[in-house]
Amino acid sequence: MAVKKDKSVFFCQNCGYESSKWLGQCPGCREWNTFVEERVKSASAAAKFAPDTSGALRRSKPEIINNVSFHEQERIKTGIDEFDRVLGGGLVKGSLTLIGGDPGIGKSTLLLQVCRQFAKDGLKVLYISGEESVVQIKMRADRIGKFSDSLFLMCETNLDLITDTVKESQPQIVVIDSIQTMVSDSVQSPAGSVAQVRESTSVLMQMAKIMGVSVFIVGHVTKEGTVAGPRVLEHMVDTVLYFEGDSHVSYRILRGVKNRFGSTDEIGVFEMTETGLSQVMNPSEYMLSGRPENASGAVVACCMEGTRPILLELQALICRTNFGFPKRQANGTDYNRLNILMAVLEKRVGLQIADCDAYVNLAGGLKINEPALDLAIVMAVVSGYKNKPLDPGMVFFGEVGLSGEVRSVSYASQRIREALKLGFTTCVLPSSNLAKTEGIKGIKLIGVRSVKEAMDLI
Ligand code: TYD
Ligand code: MG
Repeated sequence: MAVKKDKSVFFCQNCGYESSKWLGQCPGCREWNTFVEERVKSASAAAKFAPDTSGALRRSKPEIINNVSFHEQERIKTGIDEFDRVLGGGLVKGSLTLIGGDPGIGKSTLLLQVCRQFAKDGLKVLYISGEESVVQIKMRADRIGKFSDSLFLMCETNLDLITDTVKESQPQIVVIDSIQTMVSDSVQSPAGSVAQVRESTSVLMQMAKIMGVSVFIVGHVTKEGTVAGPRVLEHMVDTVLYFEGDSHVSYRILRGVKNRFGSTDEIGVFEMTETGLSQVMNPSEYMLSGRPENASGAVVACCMEGTRPILLELQALICRTNFGFPKRQANGTDYNRLNILMAVLEKRVGLQIADCDAYVNLAGGLKINEPALDLAIVMAVVSGYKNKPLDPGMVFFGEVGLSGEVRSVSYASQRIREALKLGFTTCVLPSSNLAKTEGIKGIKLIGVRSVKEAMDLI
């Protein structure tokens, strides 16, 4: 963003799209009413540093790729496996990590626990909060456990003071909670504006690269108002993690969205307890707990979250509609997908469900949009419609096409192994996936080619 002189610019608070005039809908992210006016000043404080925010050394001459030497990135482990895995095997020295999420989801709690582990290992950690007082943080810390003396707390929002403190006290880990409260004197806009959070982030990026400190920044996801969301920063930082969950359910998912030092396929599962967040090592067991026995319309599906298979319970309630227009509702799955699958059942199998209300729910509050869930949705709808329960030892996965065919999905053997691990006896899968599952023993595999074949199992 090169700004020549003092001027007024309109920014999308959601994705950071810049425009010279106000727009009702953002052309970048298609959100409505997200544009606010901000004044931007000519020179940015970060401009005096190199414009290259990746921190790589600027070289004046082109170099042959094979001659570029590097050494393996130094990684610091937190000992919280779910967290380390999402980071790609530990925290990289001198990296900038953004942790985004809805307010109140547990970002501060997670980072305080991570800091506690770092401090335990003797690393010097500086936790800077612009939202809570030191006493408030201490109260939260008391719920989590004992802390070592190498964790320092500070309440500050002025970025220039923060960089001075970091220079002076030389910590190895710095946490900024949250980026939307930080102000850099070089930008006139108020805290939380797009220009301000971008400027603050680029200053922190320089700090991380030049001093070799690993920095975490917290970014609240905001739906309205004039506070910029974390998406406007995604392109600037090394790693972007989102902490997701529903405030009504206690588990939380940490998802990697961008990672310059590892894969983004990983998720970490946590549970919010009285004493902070605890890791959920076996999410399938957690998701299936409290499953009703022999209920019609209930099916166990196997989905992938990144590279991890998770077993989930899918429920369908089918009843005759009392009105002319049947009602359909999908919780945790795609609504349009449900409509398509019900049309497939109507047309290809001849099931008279066009005048039925259908409510489909993924128990546990997870949201899954994977095609491999199709077969389970179909089975749940059929079982619910016929009011016949399925064998509780069965697991389903497979994509359903518009001709009623069951198509292959990826990671078949991982899914089957997960079902086997949790004691399921039968797995119903696309027959085209059977070829790659030869070595698996201890579970009955039923390959199906079409929805009709699968329905015969009911
Ligand atoms: P917090 O980390 O403050 O959220 P964020 O920083 O993302 O805004 O978490 C706040 C919620 O977590 C709050 O509603 C209370 C709950 N909580 C627990 O249930 N147990 C705990 O031990 C702690 C510390 C918080
Ligand atoms: Mg917080």
